Amino acid sequence: MRPVNVTVVGATGAVGEVFLSILEQRRFPVKMLRLLASQRSAGKRLKVFGRAHAVEEATESSFQGADIVFISASAEVSRRFAPVAVQAGALVIDDSSAFRMRPDVPLVVPEINAADLEGHRGIVAIPNCSTTQMVMALYPLHRADPIRRVIVDTYQSVSGTGRAAMEELREGSRAALNGQEYAPRVYPHPIAFNVLPQIEGFLDNGYTKEEWKMLEETRKIMHAPDILVSATCVRVPVYLSHSEAVHAEFTHPLSPEEARRLLAAFPGVRVLDAPQAGEYPMPVQGAGTDDVFVGRIRQDASSPNGLAMWIVADNLRKGAALNAIQIAEEALSRALLPTVGRR
Ligand SMILES: NC(=O)c1ccc[n+]([C@@H]2O[C@H](COP(=O)([O-])OP(=O)(O)OC[C@H]3O[C@@H](n4cnc5c(N)ncnc54)[C@H](OP(=O)(O)O)[C@@H]3O)[C@@H](O)[C@H]2O)c1
Repeated sequence: MRPVNVTVVGATGAVGEVFLSILEQRRFPVKMLRLLASQRSAGKRLKVFGRAHAVEEATESSFQGADIVFISASAEVSRRFAPVAVQAGALVIDDSSAFRMRPDVPLVVPEINAADLEGHRGIVAIPNCSTTQMVMALYPLHRADPIRRVIVDTYQSVSGTGRAAMEELREGSRAALNGQEYAPRVYPHPIAFNVLPQIEGFLDNGYTKEEWKMLEETRKIMHAPDILVSATCVRVPVYLSHSEAVHAEFTHPLSPEEARRLLAAFPGVRVLDAPQAGEYPMPVQGAGTDDVFVGRIRQDASSPNGLAMWIVADNLRKGAALNAIQIAEEALSRALLPTVGRR
């Protein structure tokens, strides 16, 4: 692949740090690397590809010469900088919710809908981390036997909220163990030794925004506009990797054996399903790995066409940074970068 100029907005964040390490691990063909963050981090130095790179404050003039811009900061930052980067000729791969549901923006999990990249108009969005790991497990089954309805309960780690939340779990746990008071700053309630049945704000229908994203994004990625999804998203005191209990109802009965076979054959999915031997996916296994793990696959006792399963993945890798880099690799191999060959 031809080397390209890569700019990372949010390079100092939880996702940004992992993004830089995956660039190195996958030997992504980088010609020039530019690291951007807020004013707070300007001047910091981060070692990438064996060399210290200075972090600069992101401004409207930061994107000249960029071929690929990865934005992982916040929806507000994406809304401010993505159009500027597109104007400068770059392909923007955006990690926020700002553009995901726009009809002219592909929302991509490369193993599922890489072909959607062909229609990009400068911005490609990556899904919410809880959606990505769920569709990775649902799609190979849906292809064989269309899914009609999904009920999902998530157990999401604090790294899904970013660095400050990881610190809050650390500090809050220490305080609780020492019998001290701790006033949370990131979450509305203490996260240490607790679970919070709220991720993001509530909508008028009683669901949270995070829960609604799981419905809308699943439909868009899987090209399945009629699929029904009811999610309950829960924050748990785990550092890294999200877990999900998923109940899927198919058009016809699908046996657990067939589901295991279909899942094991799908790239990026690993079946870990020997419960009698104590083998099932757990966040400690998912952390630091690229695969989406699926286990506890069984007939849903409440539905003749239903299967229940348990899905675990590293939210910073497949849920964010890895998925973004896979999109960049796919765009390069399909020659979809607006600038390459023109500069
Ligand atoms: N964490 C996940 O599992 C996950 C998964 C999927 C998607 N996402 C999305 O990824 C984004 C980042 O998440 P995160 O977990 O990495 O958060 P984080 O740890 O809080 O990091 C936020 C990053 O954004 C930078 N930033 C803040 N304000 C900025 C500004 N005005 N201009 C430029 N950069 C700015 C921060 O720079 P400073 O260090 O200078 O403050 C930092 O690098 C969010 O949109 C989130 O929704 C996260």
